Amino acid sequence: MDATALWQRYQEWLYFHEGLGLYLDVSRMRFDDAFVEKLQPKFEKAFADMAELEKGAIANPDENRMVGHYWLRNPDLAPTPELTQEIVDTIEQIEVFAEKIHTGGIHSPKANRFTDIISIGIGGSALGPEFVAEALATDFPPLAIHFIDNSDPAGIDRILTHLRNRLASTLVLVISKSGGTPEPRNGMIEVKKAYAGQNLDFANYAIAITMPGSKLDEQAKSEGWLARFPMFDWVGGRTSELSAVGLLPAALQGIDILAMLQGAKEMDDATRVPDIKQNPAALLALSWYYAGNGRGEKDMVVLPYKDSLLLFSRYLQQLVMESLGKEKDLEGNIVHQGIAVYGNKGSTDQHAYVQQLREGVANFFVTFIEVLEDRNGPSTEIDPGTTAGDYLSGFLQGTRQALYENHRDSITVTIPQVNPRTVGALIALYDRAVGFYGNLVNINAYHQPGVEAGKKAAAAILDLQKRVLEVLQTEKTALSLEQVAQKAAATNQIEQIYKILRHLHANQRGIVLEGNLAEPSSLKVSISG
Ligand code: PA5
Repeated sequence: MDATALWQRYQEWLYFHEGLGLYLDVSRMRFDDAFVEKLQPKFEKAFADMAELEKGAIANPDENRMVGHYWLRNPDLAPTPELTQEIVDTIEQIEVFAEKIHTGGIHSPKANRFTDIISIGIGGSALGPEFVAEALATDFPPLAIHFIDNSDPAGIDRILTHLRNRLASTLVLVISKSGGTPEPRNGMIEVKKAYAGQNLDFANYAIAITMPGSKLDEQAKSEGWLARFPMFDWVGGRTSELSAVGLLPAALQGIDILAMLQGAKEMDDATRVPDIKQNPAALLALSWYYAGNGRGEKDMVVLPYKDSLLLFSRYLQQLVMESLGKEKDLEGNIVHQGIAVYGNKGSTDQHAYVQQLREGVANFFVTFIEVLEDRNGPSTEIDPGTTAGDYLSGFLQGTRQALYENHRDSITVTIPQVNPRTVGALIALYDRAVGFYGNLVNINAYHQPGVEAGKKAAAAILDLQKRVLEVLQTEKTALSLEQVAQKAAATNQIEQIYKILRHLHANQRGIVLEGNLAEPSSLKVSISG
């Protein structure tokens, strides 16, 4: 296509949201009108199903749940007045609580102001808050946030060491929808011990965000934690950023949560329009379908050209891959769906993997995120008439063009600046695009059976570890791995037993390994003490 035809295609396909000042450009995806025509019936179904979902249909059939994240930003749309009230009350509760924390109306028994937050959660209970903190927290927020989003003891130590002199003024958010996920539970127990180690009563610092009635909720209630906020059954983890999961940490950091909700609401209104060309989320889903033949054949590379949006790529990775990466379709057929997502930021990545994007395997499409405002205030000229921001903008345009010339497609989302409203809008845009795409490829985008399977497999290993330790404690002599396996009734799990013992041995847990470490079958194992 020559430059004139490309300019025409750009204008033909350009979507602009006037209120938000957001542009979406899909002109560098090479679909033609016949392709759009072919997908039209699928989109008609997707629009109709989405309308039913918003009315409260059981859109997550595997978990028998409604899917209501859209109600969070427009509570009047919730299917019952009780739900509307619950959403409104929760937002108000968050605002009042954050205000009291900021003004010292609520403070720790040992300090007249809270200074820091430790946020403990994983997956959907971490990635949204992490993204929003990175994107929107000011340089000197009223409370600085620190995340524990893993079961890594060294990672936990790092946060606790950093905060050791401020623990008495640090709030702890424990975020888990189910209230039974091992990683946040482990983090919470370790953090609680650190508070006890400084003679601080954890309950005065701890806040639970979880489903009412969950194990975590019961614990918080019985121990008299500082506060509890509800996570609704009908909101999924990865679409929970605009529930208490994301709103409470954001409000505590002084981020304007009403503006985030407003931006998301405006985008939700725009993505409700049942017309592909007038609906930015439909345009994204159409482009994804085109890129990967509706089978995820191409990876989505997300490149925000703005440091503060660094974690948007990671946030989208979970949203897209946990939602769309499914073995079965809604009829139970094996389909192995999904779209792989990775990314970091531009122009940084131009000096890393963009080399391969430009010249190597053409197994991807790019999503550029462009921010029009360079910085808050004027910029220095690096060269006469050119600023650092001009360079960044030029790098983006240049990369987009170079990729296109080498037959690599791209989408560009442009926002006027990074602020609570545009961040809310981006979250809502991708929530809906994922919902549409899931519908186009006929999968349930709202459950995560693979995550559950991983949790079960890990629990089975920990159970095996218990049995192995019992065997070693009962037997007084050194045993071979085979003997341990036999006595633990796990003869088909020798490799797992070996790895368990090797890990315990490396962590001074009383395991003695004798023999040649390079030949595991030669090892004799015993337990000391
Ligand atoms: O998106 C999801 O549903 C998951 O990523 C969950 O958020 C994650 O597994 C954590 O679950 P929970 O909040 O129940 O601890």
